[in-house]
Amino acid sequence: MENKKIFVNFKMHFSEDEVSCYLQNIRGKIKCKDVVFFPSNLYSYMFLKEHYKVGLQNIYKENVGAYTGEVSAYQASSMGIEYALIGHSERRNLFHEKNSDIAKKICVATENDVTAVLCVGETKKERLFHREKKVVKKQIKEALKNIKTGEYLILAYEPIWAIGGMESLCLKEIEAMVLYIRKIIQKYFPNVVIPILYGGSIHEENIKELLTLKEVDGFLIGSASLDFKKLLKIIEVAVPM
Ligand code: 13P
Repeated sequence: MENKKIFVNFKMHFSEDEVSCYLQNIRGKIKCKDVVFFPSNLYSYMFLKEHYKVGLQNIYKENVGAYTGEVSAYQASSMGIEYALIGHSERRNLFHEKNSDIAKKICVATENDVTAVLCVGETKKERLFHREKKVVKKQIKEALKNIKTGEYLILAYEPIWAIGGMESLCLKEIEAMVLYIRKIIQKYFPNVVIPILYGGSIHEENIKELLTLKEVDGFLIGSASLDFKKLLKIIEVAVPM
């Protein structure tokens, strides 16, 4: 079985001391190029120092300028940060990020050789009304409007209602959505293989069955990763050393 990608989104968790302790606990236990950490911007340097692959949880839609409080792909790239989550549902919902902003962020990331991890997914209500495909298609279409190459692109399908709990989609439904997303993406970039990740309530107990999904290239982990033991268990089965 091929190694899956494990992307770890710490969101706004941990203090500097807690990150230090976390890093100490995982030191020497993860050696894989397929694991990428998305810590709070403040602590990126700590992961880089230990030679982990690092991504930002968000970037701004411009490279430089008078944008107080923002961080750009240009800056990230200059530090060796290779990835950025773009359009995470928490950004869309809590910070009112629109597909038009997301489209700009994707361009600016790829222009700086930062791989954009475009997050898409439907709400519970949209799924109940069988609108998940329509919703996700629109998110992808509008986000990829200006992009010229698929070289620095990864898709992450995260049903919003499956985030942060114990309720995940069933395997069949995940596979169906990932296949659907692949079909859309192939129309844009027929000659590039774009990895598709799944995220939402992945933990050490359901990772084994999720690994059986051939169409899924990896996983985006939130809550479970806050406990280093749980993350190590997930990595142990998904990307053995
Ligand atoms: P959970 O793993 O907590 O459901 O979070 C998923 C997520 O939002 C990763 O970006």
